[in-house]
Formats: sequence, C-alpha cells, structure tokens
Amino acid sequence: MKIVVIGGTGLIGSKLVNKLREHGHEAVAASPNSGVNTVTGEGLAEVLKGASVVVDVSNSPDWEDAAVLKFFETSTRNLLTYEAAAGVGHHVALSVVGTDQMSESGYFRAKIAQEKLIRESSIPYSIVRATQFFEFLKGLADISMVGDKVHWAHVLFQPMAADDVANAVGRVAVGQPVSGMVEIGGPEQFRLDELVRRRLAALKDPREVIPDPNARYSGAKIGEKTLVPGNNARLGETRFETWQTQSAGKRAA
Ligand SMILES: NC(=O)c1ccc[n+]([C@@H]2O[C@H](COP(=O)([O-])OP(=O)(O)OC[C@H]3O[C@@H](n4cnc5c(N)ncnc54)[C@H](OP(=O)(O)O)[C@@H]3O)[C@@H](O)[C@H]2O)c1
Repeated sequence: MKIVVIGGTGLIGSKLVNKLREHGHEAVAASPNSGVNTVTGEGLAEVLKGASVVVDVSNSPDWEDAAVLKFFETSTRNLLTYEAAAGVGHHVALSVVGTDQMSESGYFRAKIAQEKLIRESSIPYSIVRATQFFEFLKGLADISMVGDKVHWAHVLFQPMAADDVANAVGRVAVGQPVSGMVEIGGPEQFRLDELVRRRLAALKDPREVIPDPNARYSGAKIGEKTLVPGNNARLGETRFETWQTQSAGKRAA
C-alpha cells in the first residue's frame, strides 16, 4: 500500500516511515526537504499519485499565533483538496490530547482548526490525539521559564515515547478509517511538574522547577485532567525510566 507521510522527516514522521517500510508498505516521506510543501502545494499532486493513505505528522516551523493558524489551515486545506483529486481513501492526522480544552492557546486553536477541516471534508479520516512525547520534556521546561526557574502546574500527566506514538499512528494508518478520534498515551501517570523535574535532573540541568497552579500550557489554562487521555485510550508500552536509560532517551539528551 502506498502511504504518504507528510512531515516524514520529523521526529514522529521518520520513525513512522521506517516502521511502515518494515511492514512492507511503500511509505513515502514528504516534506519541504523532499520537494513537497503543503503550504504552497508544491509537489503534492505528484507525491499523492497512487497513494491509498496520507498521514499528516507535520508541524508548523513558526508557533506564533497567526503563523501557526495559517500553517495548519492552509496545509490541511491543500492536502484534503489534492487527496480528493488523487482518490486517497484515508487521511490520518496527529493531534494532541486535550486540544479542544486549550482554545486559549494560539497553537491549540490551530490544531482545533486542523481537526475541524478534516472532520468536515469528504475524505474518510482518523484523528489520533497523542499525549506529550518523552522527547519533548526538556522542551516543556524551555517554554515555561519565569526568570531562571521553570514553572509548571502539579497536574496529571501521561506522556509517551515517540516510538510508541509512531507504532500507534502506523496501526491506525493501515486500518480502516475510524471517522473520529483515537486517543493514545503512555503507560504511567505522573505529575507534570514532578516529571519535568526528574528529566532535568537526569540531564544534569540545574534549573529549578516550581509547582505553579497558574502556569499555562502554550498560553492555555490547564486543569487536573486536561493532559491525560480518556479511559478508552490505547497505551504505549515504554515506561519513562526504561526510555531514559535506553538509547532513545540518551539521544534525546
Ligand atoms: N510535541 C508533542 O509532545 C506532541 C504531542 C502530541 C502531538 N503532537 C503533534 O505531532 C505532530 C508532529 O510533531 P513532531 O515533533 O514529530 O514534528 P517535527 O519533528 O517538528 O517535524 C515537523 C515536520 O513537518 C514538516 N513540515 C514543516 N513545514 C512543512 C510544509 N510546509 N509542508 C510539508 N511538511 C512540512 C517538516 O519538514 P522539514 O524537515 O522538511 O522541515 C518536518 O518533517 C505535530 O502535528 C504536533 O502537533 C506533538
């Protein structure tokens, strides 16, 4: 089966392309680096020829409110239009658990817009909402600095390994469209502030993490359960400490 992975050079995309190829699929990594740009439409008609499935794991290079909204709206519209013309039978997109509860954030307004365009299109689809990736934990410290300290709320948190994200997205991509949403998460629950503290300690990063109930996620207020998936979520296998001590965690460092 020909499966085009938009953002196939990114963190999740590159893992997904490898896994699909290991399972005998013709997986094509599509991104500006390979001459495919979903914002301008460049290369889209060519790459989608003969494709059965498109998986969108791209991300905006610019997270400023207007820029990220323009990225996800334009690229999703273009993709769906070119997919309809090419006869693609399944559009899969990667989104984030709790997206609909974080509309105060420009980034999440853009993800909400992306999901809406997909739901309203004529292409059969599956939206996979994942929790945060272990690989993003240091990034979470970087985006929540107040002075020289990291501020995060003491809320529930259930992140997962990027490898498990790619496995789950791959399974959805080769299955029937669900015409709805699938949630995926990690096998363990933590507290957000505590896990960021543990990751920084493992990286020998001296920044202090302060529990702060008012800390916002990309500009959005978060509650006790905003970042954790529902009871029907499909859970990855990789535990946090296993990941940290394995090569993936060391590489991410
Ligand atoms: N971070 C988290 O914890 C988290 C949690 C849940 C869901 N997600 C979602 O996961 C998705 C993927 O994240 P990631 O971290 O794997 O992304 P990433 O590593 O930043 O990769 C982004 C990809 O998008 C491609 N791209 C950028 N502009 C493009 C364009 N105009 N046309 C086509 N491709 C373009 C890039 O291509 P080049 O390499 O050519 O620039 C790259 O392959 C995102 O949608 C995000 O919302 C993230």
